[in-house]
Amino acid sequence: MTTTGSTADGPPRLEVAGLTVTFGGLTALDDVGFTVADGETVALIGPNGAGKTTVFNAVCGLVRTRRGEVRVGGEPAPPSATGLLRAGVSRTLQGLGLFDRLTVLENVLVPLSGTRLTGDHLAAAHEVLAALGLGAVAAVRAGALPYPERKRVALARALVTRPRLLLLDEPAGGLGAADIDQLARTVRTVADGGCAVLLVEHHVDFVTDVADRVVVLDLGRVIACGTPGEVRRDPAVEEAYLGVPAGEVRP
Ligand SMILES: Nc1ncnc2c1ncn2[C@@H]1O[C@H](COP(=O)(O)OP(=O)(O)O)[C@@H](O)[C@H]1O
Ligand SMILES: [Mg+2]
Repeated sequence: MTTTGSTADGPPRLEVAGLTVTFGGLTALDDVGFTVADGETVALIGPNGAGKTTVFNAVCGLVRTRRGEVRVGGEPAPPSATGLLRAGVSRTLQGLGLFDRLTVLENVLVPLSGTRLTGDHLAAAHEVLAALGLGAVAAVRAGALPYPERKRVALARALVTRPRLLLLDEPAGGLGAADIDQLARTVRTVADGGCAVLLVEHHVDFVTDVADRVVVLDLGRVIACGTPGEVRRDPAVEEAYLGVPAGEVRP
């Protein structure tokens, strides 16, 4: 584990520097910078509207950046979905984004559908389904599954490409304690395999459990950065979270 985000043998997997994004007159991100190294899990937290999803969208080339840069493995982040796939970047969406009428297996194969489907692809899909406890429902329509399982299908779809950088937008959202524990184990396994993980999350216990470092955004700016323990004790963080609606856990 590292506290600086740099690795001994190369650039960080993800480097965001001076990132500024505006929507009309609204500055959604203002000079945001942080890194995520291979094998590291970084949590991006902050009140609603802080700019967390916009960071993900900027990394994936879905919003235009006004200033600053995003580098993946030392190279400018590719702007297209296929470029991101080649660069080893996967993300889950804040909503599930599943195809309810397709089976679980078909959903998981979607990221590979741009290429000719091979036996290796099928093997990878079955492997990730088994790892996430979804082997028995591979042939079931995704829409027929309960929410926690659909959430796992979305994660399986992000993992099937064996990403080097995994972006998870609120992976624990709507899950109960047992499912969150299982998710934490999965995230740790993925990071232990060398993948860099950036996650947006509200659940403080989950963040404390899985994150090596936490980056706190408020009104588009980074207001704190450190280990979960350091961030928890930061008065600026407490202040930013005052007025958070009930039901969202404060750091
Ligand atoms: N496509 C968009 N057009 C205009 N405003 C947007 C757009 N996306 C996000 N915003 C605004 O940018 C700010 C940050 O939003 P977002 O990144 O979704 O916050 P978070 O994920 O932290 O809740 C909010 O004020 C939001 O209303
Ligand atoms: Mg969001």
